[in-house]
Amino acid sequence: MRKLTENKLVLASHNEGKLVEITELLKLFGKSVISAGDLGFDEPPETENTFEGNARIKAHYAAKTSGIPALSDDSGLQVQALGNAPGVYSADWAETPDGRDFDLAMAKVWDALKQTNAAEPFKARFICVLCIAWPDGHDEIFRGTVEGSIVWPKRGAHGFGYDPIFQPIGLDQTFGEVDPTLKHEMSHRADAFTKLTLGCFGD
Ligand code: IMP
Repeated sequence: MRKLTENKLVLASHNEGKLVEITELLKLFGKSVISAGDLGFDEPPETENTFEGNARIKAHYAAKTSGIPALSDDSGLQVQALGNAPGVYSADWAETPDGRDFDLAMAKVWDALKQTNAAEPFKARFICVLCIAWPDGHDEIFRGTVEGSIVWPKRGAHGFGYDPIFQPIGLDQTFGEVDPTLKHEMSHRADAFTKLTLGCFGD
């Protein structure tokens, strides 16, 4: 596995919630990051139907355009009773003509669940795939998960996206209610980051 020896990297994401979480996690390893948005890069179309495929598209585009290593995050929510939807389309479920609306996306998840015969707990998981790509075309991929269930009505104002309706196993609070430090310790992103740091940081 290739090591990340550079101390500076581009974060290939325009999602504010992810940028905040990833910058915090990377600071712990002495890595400074600049976001693709701050560099004026566009968002390449996510045309693949897997988290890995879309993570690769974003990281390779930012690495080639900037000339330094780039890190991308492709993530989403899988709800078991919905056949793992919204999955790679998690951000799309929030699209409106005026931008993304996650209250709407969470209501869509609940409406879809009500139309199934599923019984509680409504099992769900968050998935996070991180890709580090180098300008020469090499990449490394890491997948992290956190298991839990969908709750309704939504609870809490921390985090982003679907956090207020996701309750991880072992807690009676949603990711929207818990202190962000706790989310950072146990989330799908934390799991993928642990794998990335074990693989690509250090000797
Ligand atoms: P993408 O990876 O940019 O295609 O979008 C992933 C989408 O999944 C985000 O816009 C969120 O809706 C959702 N998502 C990913 N990670 C989280 C998380 O930690 N909390 C809540 N929602 C998330």
